[in-house]
Amino acid sequence: MTRSTEPVIDVTDLRKRYGRVDALAGLTMAVQPGEIFGFLGPNGAGKTTTVKLLLGLARPSGGRGTLLGEPLGDREARRRVGYLPELFRFQPWLRAREVLALHADLIGLPGADRARRFEDSLGLVGLADRAGSAVGTFSKGMQQRLGLGVALLGEPALVILDEPTSALDPIGRIDVRAILRTARERGAAIFLNSHLLSEVEQVCDRVAIVDRGRVVAEGTLAAVLGAQETRVRCEAVDPAGLASLAAFGPLRVEGRELVFVDLLEPRVPDLVAALVDLGVRIQAVVSGRESLERRFLELVGHPPPEAPT
Ligand SMILES: Nc1ncnc2c1ncn2[C@@H]1O[C@H](COP(=O)(O)OP(=O)(O)OP(=O)(O)O)[C@@H](O)[C@H]1O
Ligand SMILES: [Mg+2]
Repeated sequence: MTRSTEPVIDVTDLRKRYGRVDALAGLTMAVQPGEIFGFLGPNGAGKTTTVKLLLGLARPSGGRGTLLGEPLGDREARRRVGYLPELFRFQPWLRAREVLALHADLIGLPGADRARRFEDSLGLVGLADRAGSAVGTFSKGMQQRLGLGVALLGEPALVILDEPTSALDPIGRIDVRAILRTARERGAAIFLNSHLLSEVEQVCDRVAIVDRGRVVAEGTLAAVLGAQETRVRCEAVDPAGLASLAAFGPLRVEGRELVFVDLLEPRVPDLVAALVDLGVRIQAVVSGRESLERRFLELVGHPPPEAPT
């Protein structure tokens, strides 16, 4: 697949009004080829509405945009997009293979390629041995996997997924991340709608935060949702000791914890060794984006809940 350098999604000031509700109130964003892009926002923020406008399933009330370089709703562009809707049901009497065949017809997949593509899609989503089973016998999670298989069937240039893991257990969620990475390696860009921070955090190259129909932040996770923190719970370190730790980057003391900002993971053992050299006993070392949820709440304009008293 030749990869163009044009954005796969490019929208400017997109608007959608339903009666008195501004579902989209001037949405602007761009998604680049080959990236996994997380579209993150609370319930009702406008995520599904955005997807519907991108695919031409609803018409914008204002603004403009392109999908794979063509105007929104263009049929040829849509053929090169894989889509997993938010709420969907396949006919329960169809076998998995028949569901794929139906969608192969819709995207005009050549007959000669079908057997290989069906096998590949079902294999990717872990349903290789269920091609002949009726959808009605599938669990909710298996149906969602099949939906993902359908979205990947045509080797699309862009895959649009609206809450793809809502029915999946933790193992299923991990599997989906692996599937998305595989699709990216094959050259697809992925647009992932989610209200779950943990979902986009582990797989997305960039994110946009949407709230009340507008993008309120866009960029890498670190840029949008705050820095990575490494917290070391340990005995108190004297000022000279603290000064000697400056080599590990910005540092603050919070109670019994030392908090290092954006410390790269390979440096953690060196930090531990330095603390041990200072004679400091360590209870725990935890890395993560502790402030993620708080930052998200700040961005979407809802104050963080009060700590329980
Ligand atoms: N067909 C419709 N008619 C009227 N209002 C609608 C319609 N579709 C969406 N809306 C309204 O537009 C707003 C955005 O809805 P949307 O479904 O895009 O949110 P979402 O971000 O996908 O939320 P969720 O996380 O719950 O899926 C909501 O206020 C919703 O009530
Ligand atoms: Mg939605």
